[in-house]
Amino acid sequence: MIQLEGITKTFNTNAVSFQALNNVSLSIKEGEFVAITGTSGSGKTTLLNILGCLDDPTSGKYSLTGEDVSQYNKTKKALLRNEMIGFVLQDFALVEHYTVKQNVMLPLMYVRGNKKKKERQQKIEELLSKLGIAHKEKERTALLSGGQKQRVAIGRALINEPRLILADEPTGALDQKTSKEIMEILNKLHKEGKTVIIVTHDPFVADYCDRIIQLEDGKVVSDTSKAV
Ligand SMILES: Nc1ncnc2c1ncn2[C@@H]1O[C@H](COP(=O)(O)OP(=O)(O)OP(=O)(O)O)[C@@H](O)[C@H]1O
Ligand SMILES: [Mg+2]
Repeated sequence: MIQLEGITKTFNTNAVSFQALNNVSLSIKEGEFVAITGTSGSGKTTLLNILGCLDDPTSGKYSLTGEDVSQYNKTKKALLRNEMIGFVLQDFALVEHYTVKQNVMLPLMYVRGNKKKKERQQKIEELLSKLGIAHKEKERTALLSGGQKQRVAIGRALINEPRLILADEPTGALDQKTSKEIMEILNKLHKEGKTVIIVTHDPFVADYCDRIIQLEDGKVVSDTSKAV
């Protein structure tokens, strides 16, 4: 599903240039459950942003479901992102004065086709109960616990039925017990066939995944899959 060939990313700030990714080549198959680990500053978020088409590599080739997205313009990337990819972030990135339901429905604003939109609106109740937040549907998200907020964020990531879920430290702001609950949800999504990629520095979280890719100084230093 994902193929990276010789990806590099160089940031230029104040006439200083910094290579955050150095010749990363990877391939990830549809349905895999992958953790990306590594010390702070090793390039994890940079890599995830490239995978999510939020940022462009400086050089190298990225293909997603066989399409060479390195060649896509901004508009085409935004469309692909909206249709294919769901994002889950450490700080949840919710609109706090919106209700649970309003937050989950936000991505529908950009969906093309009224029929598709309607179908997804109908699915929302199902999605909220699957995530265990149906009883909070009309609550403003500002009033929720961290774990509940992350469930809302996962709901928002799922409403457009993406094939790929990208999560950057999804449990970073949560305690161990709540982290476990969130990982169970992500594991369930993986079992349903979604491709799930999680950035984490927490070995407990990484251990949920079937494959662990470790980055150091912008390079892949290890890539191990669990024996099945
Ligand atoms: N927009 C940017 N401009 C300049 N440098 C950047 C930018 N984004 C990231 N970097 C640098 O690239 C390196 C990798 O950053 P990245 O955010 O990918 O690390 P990370 O592995 O996600 O770290 P953390 O675990 O702390 O989140 C860092 O040295 C960072 O300072
Ligand atoms: Mg990061």
